Amino acid sequence: MTPQAIAAIEACVFDAYGTLFDVASAAHNCIDVLGNKADMLATQWRTAQLQYTWLRSLMGVHADFWQVTGEALDYAMDVVGISDDALRTRLMDLYLVLATYPDAKIALKTIRRSERPTAILSNGSPKMLAAAVQSADLGALLDHVLSVEEVGIYKPHPRVYQLAVDRLHVTAEHICFVSSNGWDVAGASAFGMKAVWVNRSNSKRERLPAGPTAEISRLDELPALLGA
Ligand code: LAC
Repeated sequence: MTPQAIAAIEACVFDAYGTLFDVASAAHNCIDVLGNKADMLATQWRTAQLQYTWLRSLMGVHADFWQVTGEALDYAMDVVGISDDALRTRLMDLYLVLATYPDAKIALKTIRRSERPTAILSNGSPKMLAAAVQSADLGALLDHVLSVEEVGIYKPHPRVYQLAVDRLHVTAEHICFVSSNGWDVAGASAFGMKAVWVNRSNSKRERLPAGPTAEISRLDELPALLGA
């Protein structure tokens, strides 16, 4: 079914990890050492990373995403039974230069041509996001790169989505928030944004209080949704 167009969008805000950047690419780039453990490590790493953000937010013990990503990697390596300091350093370095999904640049370029501001709104620390944006050569296609470090709590806390409203000077209902993470889509949607779920891996819908306004499978389907 073709998703319905979303009217009256004045700005487009993107999640970073999993949406623009392929988080599994770090482990896949170390296949020479990880072999058939690469997929398992990537999954354990991402799962622990997200859980640690939610848990830290609930516990009121914030640490930036670089620290959380490192702690999640330590846990994941432990789970898959690998102890290798050089590999740890290599994986963390690769997290700064993750592969970009090829459809990301196409979508950003087209939306930019329709003169709507574009932004990243991410858990990533400012340094991590700056490195990823530079490595992907996306700088010229983004008006803002917003990090949760400005509000000191992780998604899906409403303060994070409010940051985009404040910095873009666009009300929530006129912002299209785009994420491949169903729980992030729920957070933005509950906050009042129009949220588009990029369901890259044909996942099932989350059962959370607010759902996506639209679902697509690739980012290059986004411009048509917005009439761009
Ligand atoms: C981010 C995580 C949720 O970029 O992927 O905020």
